[in-house]
Amino acid sequence: MNNFDRYAHIIGWGTSVPKKVVSNQELSEMVDTTDEWIESRTGIKQRYIADNTETTASLGLKASKNALDVANISPKDLDLIIVATCTPEHNFPSTASIIQDKLGATRAGAFDMNAACTGFVYALSVANQMIRSGAFNTILIVGSETLSKIVNWEDRSTCVLFGDGAGAIVLQEKNQPGGILTSVLRSDGSGADLLKVPAGGSAMPATNHTVENNLHAITMNGREVFRFATRVMADACNKVVQQADMTLDDIDFIIPHQANKRIIETAARNLNLPLDKFIMNLDAHGNTSAASIPLALCEAISNQQIKDKHNIIFVAFGGGLSWGATLVSWDMTHTKPVNQIWHKLRRQALYGFAKIRSTIRRSTRKIEGILLKDDSTDIDKT
Ligand code: UT7
Repeated sequence: MNNFDRYAHIIGWGTSVPKKVVSNQELSEMVDTTDEWIESRTGIKQRYIADNTETTASLGLKASKNALDVANISPKDLDLIIVATCTPEHNFPSTASIIQDKLGATRAGAFDMNAACTGFVYALSVANQMIRSGAFNTILIVGSETLSKIVNWEDRSTCVLFGDGAGAIVLQEKNQPGGILTSVLRSDGSGADLLKVPAGGSAMPATNHTVENNLHAITMNGREVFRFATRVMADACNKVVQQADMTLDDIDFIIPHQANKRIIETAARNLNLPLDKFIMNLDAHGNTSAASIPLALCEAISNQQIKDKHNIIFVAFGGGLSWGATLVSWDMTHTKPVNQIWHKLRRQALYGFAKIRSTIRRSTRKIEGILLKDDSTDIDKT
């Protein structure tokens, strides 16, 4: 097979959300807002909020296991794990490496990708190219976020918007045309200040001042981001269909980044498309950044909205400023039946072994460190 016959198809998908749901009504008891304001200005009714035990890696891990179940493959089949997130577990190590270890994906490379809310679309495009080039066969892409941990819970203009969750997909090389067709990726860093977390990076490392002044939380110029979003959503959709030699009439569904119902309605008007072509679940989740498209995709699959051979656009925008779109031709022939209990049990066993393996490797490293201490001191002396 030459590289022109390689296509990246979605063969598995899964989600995970925190246990706790917070309604608009509950938020109105914390900050000066109302259910009516939030729902009429955004379309959001509730969001899932992580507790202290739920993190970007733990949510991403659960979503990944669910995606491997649908794909019915072993974690050892993965060549690469990409986690799209702007709320990583740490600055480093990558959240992807933590998920790789816990899955026992011992053959996989792993890295995080931060393109804020556009991260999932960026990750899909990168993974598609890696598969089509012949570099890799099977890639896990996870969009996972715990935005509740970086919002200022006293700022009503941002804290009502965001939620936590994770969605994952498995991309695999197949020789039948279809799967990920083409992508458009764009950035305009002149708008970097419109949506950001000011402190915690090299420009403003953490100090008492940054903590006392809430500079580790999201700041946003909502109106400007709104204007930017409505402009670029339509533009990215038009470009991606042109690139694929299609028209908007060929598109069955658009799965947009779930930030605000009014942004999606404006994009629908700009594209001259009916609103029912747009998959929306932001009423239940709020804005979950890089997790929002895979969460909406998975819900649309389980509601049986998405059918074989549907052409679907994923379109997103966010901090950077960044935006982009990916066009997918949905192909059910590559999804194996779910509930293959024996395979599922085998995967559970592999996750158990992964835990043991990780513990042994940590212990071995400690013992080696103690035993080799004298040698390394000798090296230092030479
Ligand atoms: O993933 C990308 C991230 N971000 C986005 O996509 C956000 C894009 N922007 C938006 O979705 C909208 O701009 C918001 C939902 C953030 C705000 O809606 P808006 O219609 O643009 O409201 P606004 O900022 O123009 O504020 C209107 C009023 C203001 O009061 P005054 O100055 O008119 O008296 C705000 O202080 O609404 C007030 N306000 C609120 N009132 C009640 C702002 N937040 C709230 C709130 N509850 N939570």
